[in-house]
Amino acid sequence: MRSGADSRPEQAATSGPLRIDIVTIFPRMLKGFLEESIMKRAARSGAVSFRVVDLRAFTTDRHRTTDDRPYGGGPGMVMKPEPLFAAVESLLTPEARVILLTPQGRRLDQALAKDLSGAAHLILVCGHYEGVDERVRVHLVTDEISIGDYVLTSGTLAAAVLADAVVRLRPGVLGAAGAAESDSFSSGLLEYPQYTRPPVFRGWAVPEVLLSGNHSAIERWRREQARRRTELRRPDLLSRGRNHDLERDRGRGQ
Ligand code: ADE
Repeated sequence: MRSGADSRPEQAATSGPLRIDIVTIFPRMLKGFLEESIMKRAARSGAVSFRVVDLRAFTTDRHRTTDDRPYGGGPGMVMKPEPLFAAVESLLTPEARVILLTPQGRRLDQALAKDLSGAAHLILVCGHYEGVDERVRVHLVTDEISIGDYVLTSGTLAAAVLADAVVRLRPGVLGAAGAAESDSFSSGLLEYPQYTRPPVFRGWAVPEVLLSGNHSAIERWRREQARRRTELRRPDLLSRGRNHDLERDRGRGQ
């Protein structure tokens, strides 16, 4: 990855807008994502500014070529370095993190999303085809991120996933204060079961405690449910040793 990236000052620029530029050969893929719901509201409120950059605008040949055959032969195509360098360099700011979306990257999780949500400027570079020229990885990007252990046809959807996970953590983006804090993963536990009206649906009743109005009993029930659910479905989260609620409860013999 680009040398010097590690020596950049940590950005905690959560007060101004977070600038997110997305470099892609499929700009239209992002239209619906950016023009609906919370992303749209976040942009309107000034919490974030999105820019979608068409990589083909940075090609110089008649066919607007962004890929070529790999040196040494083999199947598939490789994204050429020139348009990627030109596009990213046109957007660069001193604080920018230049992120290549690739299955070879660090796997995205809530902690990484949180870290990125404190940045001032993200440039998301969407890979495509079999891969990108290695010089892009080594000399242009600061981070490589994967959204999971599977392969998509393009990094564009991965960029949307990453942007979504990051933007919702910016102050003021989610309506209710603390909404992001109570998510699955942010406490290290999966979320407890949620119910709304009616109290009985097709014979299935809402747990009594939730109707009791007893807030400390509700809190205990939720913690216990979250713990059980996590033990059952994602025991790996518990073994990471970052669950304070759980440790506190265990200390109380719960
Ligand atoms: N591009 C293709 N697959 C991907 C993945 N799993 N994560 C990020 N970018 C990708």
